[in-house]
Amino acid sequence: MKLTVVGGGSTYTPELVDGFARLRDTLPVEELVLVDPAADRLELVGGLARRIFARQGHGGRIVTTPDLDAAVDGADAVLLQLRVGGQAARERDETWPLECGCVGQETTGAGGLAKALRTVPVVLDIAERVRRASPGAWIIDFTNPVGIVTRALLEAGHRAVGLCNVAIGLQRRFAARLGTDPAGLHLDHVGLNHLTWETAVRRGGPGGEDVLPALLREHGDAIAADLRLPRAVLDHLGVVPSYYLRYYYAHDEVVREMRTKPSRAAEVAGMERRLLALYADPALDEKPALLAERGGAYYSEAAVDLAAALLRGAGSPYQVVNTRNGTTLPFLPGDAVIEVQAAVGTGGADPLPVPRVDPLFAGLMANVTAYEELALDAALRGGRERIFRALLAHPLIGQYAYAEQLTDRLLAHNREHLAWA
Ligand code: G6P
Ligand code: MN
Repeated sequence: MKLTVVGGGSTYTPELVDGFARLRDTLPVEELVLVDPAADRLELVGGLARRIFARQGHGGRIVTTPDLDAAVDGADAVLLQLRVGGQAARERDETWPLECGCVGQETTGAGGLAKALRTVPVVLDIAERVRRASPGAWIIDFTNPVGIVTRALLEAGHRAVGLCNVAIGLQRRFAARLGTDPAGLHLDHVGLNHLTWETAVRRGGPGGEDVLPALLREHGDAIAADLRLPRAVLDHLGVVPSYYLRYYYAHDEVVREMRTKPSRAAEVAGMERRLLALYADPALDEKPALLAERGGAYYSEAAVDLAAALLRGAGSPYQVVNTRNGTTLPFLPGDAVIEVQAAVGTGGADPLPVPRVDPLFAGLMANVTAYEELALDAALRGGRERIFRALLAHPLIGQYAYAEQLTDRLLAHNREHLAWA
C-alpha cells in the first residue's frame, strides 16, 4: 500500500506518522511518501518520520520528495494537508477582519473565505494530477476550509472524502469523562465542517442508549468550560456544540479577546520553530509532547481509520466525515457537503440517516451552506462581486458596509495568491 501526504513537511506530520506506526495492523502502509515544496522542513520532518518508524519496528519505506507527480504516481490514497501561503497568510486572515469588528479566524468568516480562495485552485490542480497518475486513488482532504474544499473536489468528480478531528476529539473527551472506552461511544454528530452539534452520545453504536443528558447533568460545567461558553448556553441548546460555534454564539466577545492577544498564527509560528528545532535532533524518535499543543489531536487516528475503511473495508464501520448531503438533511441542497456519521467502506462514505434537526441548528446550517456555495463560486471564478456576495451572505457579516470593507481588505491581502486578481 502506497500513501502520499501532500504538505508532508508540515510540523503535524509526526502525529500522522506516529499513528501509521502504532496502527499498522489496521492500515499496513508499505510506502509513505511525504511531498512538500519546502525542502528544509521536509528533510527535518522526514528524518524524524523515519526514526519514528524505526523505533516502532515499522518496516515501511518513507520517501521525501518535492516532485508531486512522482509522489502521487501509483498511490492508493493521497492525504491533503497543505496550507497555501503558510502561517503568514493565516496570520493575515486572523487579523484584518478584526478591523471591521468581525471574527479573525482561519476557517470561519472572512478569513475562512480568503483561505478558500487561495486553496481551492491549488487543491483542484493537485487532484487533477492525482487522477492522471493514479485514477482510482482516494483523496482524503484535511486541508481547510474542509467543507468548501471537499465540495470543490466532489463537484470536479474526484474520489474525495473530507476529514476533521473535531468529532474524534469530542468522542475521546466524553469517553474520558465517562470513564469508558472511546470505541464504544457513538456521537450523533450533525452539521457542516466547523459548524457541528453533538445531538446524542450513544453507547455501543448507532441506535444505542443516549447518555448525553446524563453527561450534561454530571459534567456540563466542565464541558462548558472546555468550550469557553456559559453553562446556560448548553442548557438552552440541550446538545453540545463544537468549539467553533463559540465564534457565532459569542462573536463580539471573541472579537474583543482577539483584539488584545497575539493571533493563533503567531502562536503556532513560534511553536513550529521550536518543533522544527526538536525534529532536527537525531536522538528524537517519537512525536514530542509540544505537538499536543497544536489543534490536531487524534488527527492520525481519524486518518488511519478513514484510509483503512476506504482502502480495505477495515477500521471503524461508522466515521464522521465530510461528504455529499444527498437527501440526508432535507433542508439543504443535495450537492451541499455536510459533516455527519457515515458508513464508510471501499465504495466511499454513505451518510447515516439523521433525525429531524431542530430549526435552532438547521437555520444556521442552511445559512452557512449558502455562504459556502457562494464562496466556492468565488474561488472557482474569481471577481470582486463574487467575494462581496459570499461575505454578504455570511451570517457573521450580513451588512453591506462590512461586506464592502472586508472585500477590499481580502483582496489587498491576498492578491499574490489569486491568479485572477
Ligand atoms: C483543529 C481543526 C483543524 C485546524 C486545527 C488548527 O484540529 O479541526 O481544522 O486546522 O485545529 O490547529 P492549530 O494548532 O494550527 O491552531
Ligand atoms: Mn477541522
